[in-house]
Amino acid sequence: MKQNKQKIDWDNLGFNPLPTRSMWKGECVSGDDWINGKLIPYGEISLSPAACVLNYGQGIFEGMKAYHTAKDRIVLFRPDKNSARMEKSTERMCIPKMNEKYFMNAVSATVKDNADFIPPFGKGSMYIRPICFGVSKAIAVQAATEYVFMVFTSPVGPYFKVGAKPLHLYLTDKYHRAAPKGIGNAKAIGNYSASLYPGSEAKSKGFNDMIYVHAKNEKIIEEMGAANLFVLCGDELLTPKLGGSILDGVTRDSVITIARDLLNLTVRETDVEINTMLSADEVFCCGTAVTVTGVGRISTDKKEHVIGDGNFGEKTLQIKKKLLQIQKEEIDDPFEWIHPLS
Ligand SMILES: Cc1ncc(COP(=O)(O)O)c(C=O)c1O
Repeated sequence: MKQNKQKIDWDNLGFNPLPTRSMWKGECVSGDDWINGKLIPYGEISLSPAACVLNYGQGIFEGMKAYHTAKDRIVLFRPDKNSARMEKSTERMCIPKMNEKYFMNAVSATVKDNADFIPPFGKGSMYIRPICFGVSKAIAVQAATEYVFMVFTSPVGPYFKVGAKPLHLYLTDKYHRAAPKGIGNAKAIGNYSASLYPGSEAKSKGFNDMIYVHAKNEKIIEEMGAANLFVLCGDELLTPKLGGSILDGVTRDSVITIARDLLNLTVRETDVEINTMLSADEVFCCGTAVTVTGVGRISTDKKEHVIGDGNFGEKTLQIKKKLLQIQKEEIDDPFEWIHPLS
């Protein structure tokens, strides 16, 4: 693996795609299995304007990270979970079913070939973006017959620019992100287009992001546009239960395990009422991109609510620390989550 790092300003990485050396590209027709693919130079691809993904949004993706760790190794964090989720997303979106062997080979090959773009230990991480979409031409609404799977990567820094400040989020029932029995629990591209308008409204009002409520019961919370939510009330950590419209986050699952097994908190996956969240001791969001980020204020259309004392909560920081320490191999990994590539 190439260990001599690229000349990049590692201290000022944002969350934007930077070009790297190569990307994976594979093809598959419906009814077949994912077998073929190879690394090609990083760059643009061409598509027919009638490609199914451009007209009917038949596309899915994953988001994961590679780290250069304290043990001077390149590792992935729980890639089996991303592979399993992509398998589920392919099935839900009528795309040939992804398989773990193919997914892992494509991801590992792409990361290894671009290892010199992985930020040095302590400077950030490499975001890995597997994407899969229908490319055959369609005018009638139907699933494609030909598909492409790609993996590209980019060195990244923090997702939220606020850095040291807790988030200020906007909660409204004016928009829903996803509906029960819809595709909210698949990592389908359409879920993200649905969140663009609400997200930009929240940002234009000075908030960092949106909190979505449940489409059928607007008294309970769901998640954010790209992160799951947790609410601490006393010694009890609550998170919205999975059930169709929420993404089954890899970080969500890791936070639940860390909170239960390492911090002895009681964790409940349940319906979380808006009022419970607004009067909680701590609120945080979590995801691959955002890691664990504390929420200091939540505004509704009526009022601004300060969470706890408005700063990062103590348990939030403890959970974040443990998660990052495991990901960066600064402490032992008691759960076998780390997947070394070198
Ligand atoms: C809608 C949504 N919820 C939650 C998450 C967090 O999932 P994960 O922890 O697997 O990154 C994401 C990830 O980007 C997301 O897009």
